[in-house]
Amino acid sequence: MKRFVLTAIAAMLASPAFAGDVTVIHAGKLIDTEAGRTLENRFIVIEDGLVREVLGARGVAKLDEPDEFIDLSDMTVLPGLSDAHVHLIGKAASYGYNSLAESTPRAAITGVANARKTLEAGFTTVRNVGAPGFADVDLRDAINEGEVPGPRVIPAGRSIGITGGHCDSNLLPYEYADMAGGVADGPWAVRAKVRENKKYGAEAIKFCGTGGVLSKGTTIGAQQFTLEEMKAIVDEAHQLGMKVAVHAHGTKGIKTAIEAGVDSVEHASLIDAEGIRMAKRNGTALSMDIYVSDFILSEGEEAGILEESLEKERQVGRLQRENFQKAARAGATIAFGSDAGVYPHGQNGRQFAYMVEWGLSPMQAIQAATVTNAKLFDREGQIGVIKPGAHADIIAVDGDPTDDISALEDVGFVMKGGEVFKRPGS
Ligand code: ARG
Repeated sequence: MKRFVLTAIAAMLASPAFAGDVTVIHAGKLIDTEAGRTLENRFIVIEDGLVREVLGARGVAKLDEPDEFIDLSDMTVLPGLSDAHVHLIGKAASYGYNSLAESTPRAAITGVANARKTLEAGFTTVRNVGAPGFADVDLRDAINEGEVPGPRVIPAGRSIGITGGHCDSNLLPYEYADMAGGVADGPWAVRAKVRENKKYGAEAIKFCGTGGVLSKGTTIGAQQFTLEEMKAIVDEAHQLGMKVAVHAHGTKGIKTAIEAGVDSVEHASLIDAEGIRMAKRNGTALSMDIYVSDFILSEGEEAGILEESLEKERQVGRLQRENFQKAARAGATIAFGSDAGVYPHGQNGRQFAYMVEWGLSPMQAIQAATVTNAKLFDREGQIGVIKPGAHADIIAVDGDPTDDISALEDVGFVMKGGEVFKRPGS
């Protein structure tokens, strides 16, 4: 075995993986996200970017020598992580009036750098819930064509919202006639926006169902869109095969959106017991960004966040965590969504420790970012698991994240689609 390992490592250094090549990863520990348990000494066989099989030591000894052998015997190996709520396009920490100086092409270039940071942090799939123009669609394509490194991107294109709502652009006075691209009012107008998003490459729909923290002049508790408009968005999106994410902090907006049939509630800050029950009954995932508050309150002022937004954050941050705990304890479906882009990309993993502090076991937090998100993205069996037929999206960390979840803040090995993007020590 040892000689096989050494010769395989030498071969690995000499040749990058080509299609048809077989790679074997020796995992000291392997997290089985579906079963929620950790296995020891497993060998993952990878071919054509997919997992072919997962073997024990006896099984691997029967294989022909692979083209590449990767020794992660002293690490914990798990499927690549995913984040259901990121904004890759644009400078993280460009808030308030600072954001007005950024053109969409400039924001897209920053998006390329953000994508790389995200991937190198172990996040191999992200849902991008809102971008100017359709820059997230183009970024997805550039990544898929192998032009730039990055995670798999599920783009939502422009976020849909009411005039003057959280998804509009409210910073400038009337004479500038500034309006965000996703603004629409009325059931048919919102249906048209969903169709347009689909036409230009969106794979998911995001809309704003209440006010928000970082938008000017909106109230977090106030619902945006009527039930009729929300139903129109959801119906149209589902008809076209897209899942729907709603931005909602306020209690009533959350419940109205769940009633309308959304697939995930983002933030869900002021969800009440009835809202949690409704989410459970309807299978609605809660994607609660419970890390970002710390960032906003410590660095926000310097970064240009408006005082009214800081004040809203002071009101909502702690309550959101308490409500997360209630939802987790009640057994609601918890997705992993972090709002990276409000804080710097690549720090997505910091949210895990908060999810554990506020009620999930480490394994449940890992499942949120793997199997649960996979279901929310309609990619069950393709991502978030290491089993035959899944994409070979595989990461590894020192230590055992099921003991100490903060291990996920420092990912040492990243493979996506069978290609290695980061190796220990690099
Ligand atoms: N984008 C969100 C908003 O502006 C950020 C909310 C962050 N705060 C929080 N407690 N999750 O509403």
